[in-house]
Amino acid sequence: MTTAEAAYRDNLSSRYLNLAAGRAVADLVDGMRGDRSPVRVLELGAGIGGTTDDVTAALSGLPVEYHFTDVSTFFLEAAKARFADYPWMRYGLVDMNADLAKQPRYDIVIAANVLHNAFDIGVTLGQLHDLLNPGGAVVIIETCHAHCEQLTSVHFLMSPGQDQPHAGLTDVRAGTDRIFLTEQEWREQLVAAGLHPELVLPEGDHPVALLDQRVFIGVRGRGE
Ligand SMILES: C[S@@+](CC[C@H](N)C(=O)[O-])C[C@H]1O[C@@H](n2cnc3c(N)ncnc32)[C@H](O)[C@@H]1O
Repeated sequence: MTTAEAAYRDNLSSRYLNLAAGRAVADLVDGMRGDRSPVRVLELGAGIGGTTDDVTAALSGLPVEYHFTDVSTFFLEAAKARFADYPWMRYGLVDMNADLAKQPRYDIVIAANVLHNAFDIGVTLGQLHDLLNPGGAVVIIETCHAHCEQLTSVHFLMSPGQDQPHAGLTDVRAGTDRIFLTEQEWREQLVAAGLHPELVLPEGDHPVALLDQRVFIGVRGRGE
C-alpha cells in the first residue's frame, strides 16, 4: 500500500492530476445536476483511492451516487473505512475486461492509472461510451511514456493473470511491446470511440507535463 500511495498519490504529478480530476468531476456534476439528480459516477480500478480522495473532497454538497470499484476485493474493505463519511458511496467488484457490458448506465466514469490494463483499449473505450448516458464523460488519468523508475514498481501489475491475454495484443499497441499509449494515441482512441477529448491537462508548457502523465476528459455527445 505504501509503495502504491507514493506512486499514485503522494508525489507532485499525482497531486496535480488528482486535484485536476477532482475539479473536473465536480464541474461536470455541477453542469449535469439540472438534468439528472443524483449524478451517477462509476470509478474503475479505484485501488488505494488516491484519486477518490480528491474527487470526493471536490464533490462535497453535490448530488451524486458514487460506485467505487476495483477488480480486487483487497482494496474495497480499506475504502469502506476510509470513505465512511460519504453516505452516497457504494462499493463493488468490476473487472473492466469482463464486466463493462453488464453495467447499468452512468453519467461519469473515472479511470485513474488502470485503462492501460485493458486487453484492447479500443474495445474498452467503446464499452465505456455505451455505458455513459448521452452528454456523459470519462475522466482518465494515464502515463503517456514509460519511465524506467516507474516500471520498476508497476511491472507486477502489468503481468497477465493465468489464461489471460497480455494487454494490448490487438489494439494500437500491437507489435510494439509497450503498455502505455502516447497522448496523441489517447486523443485518437477517444475520438474513435465517440468520446470527444474536451480537455487534456497539463498542457505541454506546464512543468508537470515533463513527467508525461495526463488527465483526459472525454465527452459523449448529447445526440449520440
Ligand atoms: C495502478 S493502480 C491505480 C489505483 C488508483 N486508481 C490510483 O490511481 O490511485 C491500478 C488499479 O487497477 C486495478 N485493476 C487492474 N486490472 C483491472 C481490471 N481489469 N479491472 C478493474 N480494475 C483493475 C488494480 O487492482 C489496481 O487497484
